[in-house]
Amino acid sequence: MKYLDAPREPSLVPDVSRRRVLTAGGITFVAAFITGCRSSTSVSVPPTGVASSPRASAEAAKVSEAARVQAVENLRKPVFVPEGGALDPVSLSLADTLFWTDILMEHGQFFSMLMPGNELAQQRAEAERFKATFAEQFDRARTASIDKSNYIQLNRQTVDLVKPFIDWKKRMSDAQAKGKMRSLVWPDFFDHTALEAERFTKRLEQFSRGNAEFDRGEVVDFWAKIMEDHAEFIAHLLDPQEKALIAASRKSADLFQKLRADHKTNPDAKAKALVEAQAMVAFKTTATKGIEEGKIKSIIHPTLADHVRREAVKFVDELRRA
Ligand SMILES: [Fe+2]
Ligand SMILES: [Fe+2]
Repeated sequence: MKYLDAPREPSLVPDVSRRRVLTAGGITFVAAFITGCRSSTSVSVPPTGVASSPRASAEAAKVSEAARVQAVENLRKPVFVPEGGALDPVSLSLADTLFWTDILMEHGQFFSMLMPGNELAQQRAEAERFKATFAEQFDRARTASIDKSNYIQLNRQTVDLVKPFIDWKKRMSDAQAKGKMRSLVWPDFFDHTALEAERFTKRLEQFSRGNAEFDRGEVVDFWAKIMEDHAEFIAHLLDPQEKALIAASRKSADLFQKLRADHKTNPDAKAKALVEAQAMVAFKTTATKGIEEGKIKSIIHPTLADHVRREAVKFVDELRRA
């Protein structure tokens, strides 16, 4: 049995920089990490198949039934998914932990950015602490050697960190909706990010019970709602003069709303869902590049553009497995 490091009190904002992700021990990046270079599989994982630190990699090579994770669709950041053939709860746990802890770290970052001024100093500091907590948990998962003997411990530790963030998001949503707090975060954005975090904890709890299944109905229902929300957010954050893109975003929101409804009556419609999810990845990839290069006018931070792009990539990956 390997023991994971116990969570520490969050230190001051340990940033998950590109370089740290690039130099993740045990994961070798083989594609150029250049904006505009989109690759379907931009990394390879060593034969051990374990996302481990150099310190642990020799040891990990001897461990059977270890987590097998790969990083794909690398633009600003990669997306962590289970290796192609890996359908076990250990690999799924590590892939989801690497994916979602990084996403939750960015939620903290977005809230902090959208809570300006002295009157929001306390809430901003809380958001920064969540950002630090999930950056640390990402690093802990990345550098640990995860296998059958310790993945449940990692999942439990992660769920314990996520639950207070879900509660906080719900409290903030309520305060913003009732006019008790005046941040620049819509209640809907707090709710959206709480939904993502809740789904993450449910998946980890499912994996800890040894169940690694993908329920296609659940995958489509959850992700179509997330894609619909993203399209609405993008429409609202584009410059009002970007009329064509705003119209495209609204249309996309309608498509995902319809997909969600249709899938309930026709759960075999996987191909249609896949086409729409892939179109969303392409749209967000183009938008991320356009925003980074200053070709699209908006108040969308490039980190947010890439954040929603990575979530769409994750949707496609889950749908393929479901
Ligand atoms: Fe998110
Ligand atoms: Fe999202």
